[in-house]
Amino acid sequence: MPGSVETRHVETLHVETLHVETPRVKTLLAAMTLEEKIGQLTMASGEMVGGRLGVTPSVAEAIAAGHVGSLLNLWGPLSVREVQRLALERSRLKIPLFFSFDVLHGHRTVFPIPLGEAAAFSPDLWERTARAAAREAARDGISLSYAPMLDLARDPRWGRMAEGPGEDPWVGSRFAEAKVRGFQGDDLATAGGVAATAKHMGAYGAVTAGRDYASIDISERSLRELHLPAFKAAVDAGVAAVMAAFPDIAGVPATGNARLLRDILRGEWGFDGIVVSDYGAVAELVAHGVAADIAEAAALALKAGVDIDMTSKAYPLGLPVALARGLVSMDEIDAAVSRVLRFKERLGLFEDPYRGLADGAGTVAPVEPPLDRDLAREAARRSIVLLTNDGVLPLAREAGRIALIGPFAAAASEMLGPWTGAGHAAESITIADGLSAALPEAAISVVAGVSIDGPDGAGIAKAVETARLADAVVLCLGEAADMSGEAASRARVDLPGCQRELAEAVLALGKPVVAVLFSGRPLILPWLVARAAAVVAAWFPGHEAGHAVADVLTGAFNPVGRLPLSWPYDVGQIPIFYAERPTGRPVDAANRYTSKYLDVPTTPQFPFGHGLSYTRFTLGEPRPTSPVMKRGDQIFVEVEVTNEGQVAGEETLFLFIHDVVASIARPVLELKDVAKISLLPGASGTARLALTGEALTFPGLDLAPAFEAGDIALFVGVSADRAHLRRTTIRLIDP
Ligand code: BGC
Repeated sequence: MPGSVETRHVETLHVETLHVETPRVKTLLAAMTLEEKIGQLTMASGEMVGGRLGVTPSVAEAIAAGHVGSLLNLWGPLSVREVQRLALERSRLKIPLFFSFDVLHGHRTVFPIPLGEAAAFSPDLWERTARAAAREAARDGISLSYAPMLDLARDPRWGRMAEGPGEDPWVGSRFAEAKVRGFQGDDLATAGGVAATAKHMGAYGAVTAGRDYASIDISERSLRELHLPAFKAAVDAGVAAVMAAFPDIAGVPATGNARLLRDILRGEWGFDGIVVSDYGAVAELVAHGVAADIAEAAALALKAGVDIDMTSKAYPLGLPVALARGLVSMDEIDAAVSRVLRFKERLGLFEDPYRGLADGAGTVAPVEPPLDRDLAREAARRSIVLLTNDGVLPLAREAGRIALIGPFAAAASEMLGPWTGAGHAAESITIADGLSAALPEAAISVVAGVSIDGPDGAGIAKAVETARLADAVVLCLGEAADMSGEAASRARVDLPGCQRELAEAVLALGKPVVAVLFSGRPLILPWLVARAAAVVAAWFPGHEAGHAVADVLTGAFNPVGRLPLSWPYDVGQIPIFYAERPTGRPVDAANRYTSKYLDVPTTPQFPFGHGLSYTRFTLGEPRPTSPVMKRGDQIFVEVEVTNEGQVAGEETLFLFIHDVVASIARPVLELKDVAKISLLPGASGTARLALTGEALTFPGLDLAPAFEAGDIALFVGVSADRAHLRRTTIRLIDP
């Protein structure tokens, strides 16, 4: 109850208030009332008003009064202009608003979902799609994107796995850097740059049992070693904003977690941007059971380092009370306000409050530029992973009659996945469209057979009849776009509805069947993998889905996608990941008392890094450029790669390490670099993978970075399948 509050939450945690006071910020702070200050810390949401995105009369009033500093979910030249004008023309201090939105995998043009894009293992591509998205979002008045999502995810039950880069901290870190560079460019104030948000700090992917918003309880070691590196990489790359996660870590909600947001983020890493709460999360501190009312919630979040309250109203309603109760100081409020104002300065909003917006006049909607279809197609086809292939793919060019079956065969709205930005589903190329364009001579019959999730199998007979008459059968299966993303946890990570019944009926014909899977997570389908002639993971490919899938199925594009996660064989294996620690009793089929299951294998259906090509590569032995290294050194590991097949292709090489003896048991494999090499048929080349001494440090016994002398096993190969890795050893020596 409020009376007992003061002693409970608010002991000051060596809060350095971090005023970032440029002359403008200083002048404004001196002129602002308490309400105007809190206004800068208050984010409101746009909504449909009179058929167009805008703000409700009460939000408009609040903006005019200077009680709102930023908007979420409001974009478009006309809407942004109209609302910005309220702040500039009607508010006392005329401080411009900033507009924010979830530009997660594209804005107008929708690229593959981030998990799919991660499969491209291409920082260059990751950067270019972010850049393109930023350009489109900036034209629509957006200055802050709620991306990249950097939550390491090892539990496919958690639907938000779709939004991030998968299971590996090294990949997550490279993804973070590329996305921050792509969104922000060199200077945030220049047109086309959009501030990025590293979200959701931290360890959101570790929610208990994969259930969204559930509690997290992990060690400080795994927090630092697995979940935080991508955030640190984003900060080092200059990310302008960080969003706190919804859940608690061991009882301390991230939104009120001073250790995380102040000590680590600002203190250890020197982050000087803004921290935004997640949607409604400040007020939710009450439901978490760590604040008795919104005044306590507001105080807890502000003191923990949350600068902006996204829509929960806890700051505008609770902070004045918290101040009166002595739960927060004016200095703490000023520090947050100065960071927000500084952020607006960094965006160049004071010079140009309509920054980036398309069209100067602001009365007619400007003409939209066309979608960036070339980049969308490139990104989508690079994200597609060929999981199995007995030779049925690529489809023969003269493939006469093709049966294109399943609820995803012509499903424009399902191709975009979760978080579609300002993209329109109607602009998606369906698989049917794409395949027809790629194979104009083929007779393609499209039959859904069943709906994605419905109980009705009545259409299966027609699908089977169509398949019976066809020369090639392509089954398009998966989970609906809204079955992954936020609030989309699934306990059964398989095909919903009657899709299995449909697939089994088609497979029973005994014809070679190509299965194309659409999903925001790995789908556990061992029966399909065993019986289909080829299985393709297409994720949610975005606007160019149909063309990209057709490019891969026909061989017009030789697949390069590799799994950014371990694809489970059974739901009971979850969480599953390659970087497990050694056990005292490694799995041994002949010995019961070893680490395994009685009923399913310990290995995944497909390992991290897995992905086939239409050509075949062989690798030579890995050659380190030096057999010893010190902490400050960098060496390379070179490996000869030969394309033994008939077509040009690109191979992806992974460099893993294992620290053989250390003070902390180190994972059996840790990824340290990835290289790609493109080779013509019959050609050989040398791939170079880099290893720095710094990358060999790990949180030691006291959690400080440790660099320990001794042997490091190096492994090079095409996936984390240990049976097929080439090994060599180097020696670390003390600096
Ligand atoms: C999500 C965030 C998102 C925010 C704003 C929340 O529900 O967790 O990822 O950025 O909404 O849309």
